[in-house]
Amino acid sequence: MKVAIIGAGYVGLTTGACLAHLGHNVTCADIDAERVARLSKGEIPIHEEGLAALVNDGLTNRRLSFVVGAANAARGAEIVFLCVQTPQGEDGAADLTYVENVAREIAPVLAPGTVVVNKSTVPVGSTRYVQRVMSEAGASTDHVTVASNPEFLREGQAVRDFLEPDRIVIGCEDPGAAVRVSELYRGIHAPLLVTDPASAEMIKYASNAFLATKVSFINAIANLCEAVDADVREVALGMGYDKRIGFEFLRPGPGYGGSCFPKDTAALLHTSLKAGYNFDVLHGVVDVNRQQHERMVDKVRVASGRELSDAVVAVWGLTFKADTDDLRDSPALVIASRLLEAGATVRAYDPIAGEQAAIRMPGLDVHADPYDAAAGADVVALLTEWDEFRWLDFNRVREAMRHPAIVDARNLLDPSAMRRRGFVYDGVGRR
Ligand SMILES: NC(=O)c1ccc[n+]([C@@H]2O[C@H](COP(=O)([O-])OP(=O)(O)OC[C@H]3O[C@@H](n4cnc5c(N)ncnc54)[C@H](O)[C@@H]3O)[C@@H](O)[C@H]2O)c1
Repeated sequence: MKVAIIGAGYVGLTTGACLAHLGHNVTCADIDAERVARLSKGEIPIHEEGLAALVNDGLTNRRLSFVVGAANAARGAEIVFLCVQTPQGEDGAADLTYVENVAREIAPVLAPGTVVVNKSTVPVGSTRYVQRVMSEAGASTDHVTVASNPEFLREGQAVRDFLEPDRIVIGCEDPGAAVRVSELYRGIHAPLLVTDPASAEMIKYASNAFLATKVSFINAIANLCEAVDADVREVALGMGYDKRIGFEFLRPGPGYGGSCFPKDTAALLHTSLKAGYNFDVLHGVVDVNRQQHERMVDKVRVASGRELSDAVVAVWGLTFKADTDDLRDSPALVIASRLLEAGATVRAYDPIAGEQAAIRMPGLDVHADPYDAAAGADVVALLTEWDEFRWLDFNRVREAMRHPAIVDARNLLDPSAMRRRGFVYDGVGRR
């Protein structure tokens, strides 16, 4: 099928490369001309395992191409995916400006029979809204159908998640259009749920809110474990064997972050408010998350043995999780900025995103390796679970530091081994 993808970011680029891999003819558009130029040469602007190979295969066999401007991709396409950003607006609601702009831009060029598919995470009612915006902008509503097809991929394993998803959800009033969208996924073995657009849109928000709830729940249990001298890792293991609960998302840490959970929970709370429903559980989830960031700052202060205004803190890891270069709403950056506000000197290291972080946060003193970052520090705050942190020479780290203390916000290291090496060690929810 001839497919257009609008927005060549984490979701759009993965969708485009994977659909080309499945045999479709894909044109990806972005508004960013430099990004398009790099992608056309096979240079991938994001860190995502397996994506470069798929993009380059697609370019070589000419099933994948990149253009500037949504209309240039949408002209002549049978299916057009909207994969632009939907950031959090000032009132917490999802900001649909980017989606609206694309809908207006492509409406006049769509061929009769085109299906426009919203893959961006958008609030309930957006499918109808996009249809309205497009008909106001000149698309014939008789001939163009809008569907919802939310995306569930995880950064760091986006390609695998796209090609081996747990489910595919399509929300569409028109059964014929839903069938055509489902045909795009031929070759992928996953349960297919075809439903109405509002339910499809809600499935995405409910899924992310539920996962955020698991994270805040295990963080709350971890905090309680610290108070009663239990070990949250043992607790999570004992809980996870129960199939009704499972092991996923039961890892305590500095709180969730990234480009999805914070904005999607805020947007769902906004939807609830508008609908007159008081979503107390979700308010609690968001509050626990905020407190968890602050709790890590306090752990750093205590472990440093000084006031923060006098402390040198080495932050290891800046991305919101390992195996991605995404810094959006990263808890590590939130914590680093709190430390800077409190007057601490923050020396940072990240395997991938150090340069980008330094641009975003000028107060951050970014270093090229974890040993340099630790030099003269009173405490190391390990904030992202990059595997390389497990395998460092911790004698060298200790010798470089002014005061050997580690706050392991990801429970990545072995507490007794660290203490044997002479560190003051503090994890999350364990001794
Ligand atoms: N990142 C994830 O892990 C993830 C997972 C599931 C769903 N989502 C949702 O998918 C959507 C996209 O997220 P993302 O992380 O890929 O965003 P992103 O910011 O990485 O990518 C968006 C891209 O759209 C481009 N764009 C903006 N306006 C445009 C226009 N008018 N024409 C052409 N291109 C335009 C931007 O330049 C950018 O490259 C969001 O709604 C997000 O919530 C994201």
